[in-house]
Amino acid sequence: MTQDELKQAVAQAAADYVAANVPAGSIIGVGTGSTANFFIDAIAPLKDKYKGAVASSEATKKRLEGHGFPVLDLNDVDSIPVYVDGADEIDGGLNMIKGGGGALTREKIVAAVAQTFVCICDASKRVEVMGKFPLPVEVIPMARAHVARELAKLGGTPVLREGFVTDNGNLILDVKGLAITDPKGLEAQINQITGVVTNGLFAVRPANVLLLGTAEGVKTIV
Ligand code: 5RP
Repeated sequence: MTQDELKQAVAQAAADYVAANVPAGSIIGVGTGSTANFFIDAIAPLKDKYKGAVASSEATKKRLEGHGFPVLDLNDVDSIPVYVDGADEIDGGLNMIKGGGGALTREKIVAAVAQTFVCICDASKRVEVMGKFPLPVEVIPMARAHVARELAKLGGTPVLREGFVTDNGNLILDVKGLAITDPKGLEAQINQITGVVTNGLFAVRPANVLLLGTAEGVKTIV
């Protein structure tokens, strides 16, 4: 199976999970990226069952609306039973690195509201220790150099994502060379740097369910 076929299989499994577990009339949280795009396509037939979705990026909002799926403002929503999103890396504790697509801040906000985070990944994303994938950090533009110096003190090599501006008007520093043995501690430490909006570690709020696409089929890990 190709990587895209694995992504499509987990996306369909997530749509089946939503259909089976999320009551009609609910609001679904929807992530960003190529795997999330397959999920959006897979839930399109459910658009009359649910009240709508909260999108974690402008790109996701556009794709949902393209399918006629209503998109709601998070501020108008009290509860999101399930948030479905991909990841760049995920470890055995279901901690993740996210933000390869640059949507980490909005993803973290929607995930914070959701009761259950369902991560959908192909098997290449499952790692023992995170950090091979550079850790994205969203920064306020005027703080870029300061934050880069502080990240270097933590042992990483921050690289500005050239020509990229987030949906929030900020920049991304991708931090290479980190071996992340304490994801929760590092997430909190980086978020303490003045000028950081948030970082792509999802360890304070990890996934609850992992649907992992493998050559042997989709595995459910909780
Ligand atoms: C976007 C993300 C994505 O979930 C992550 O980059 C995985 O993307 P893909 O499904 O395309 O491999 O965090 O900000």
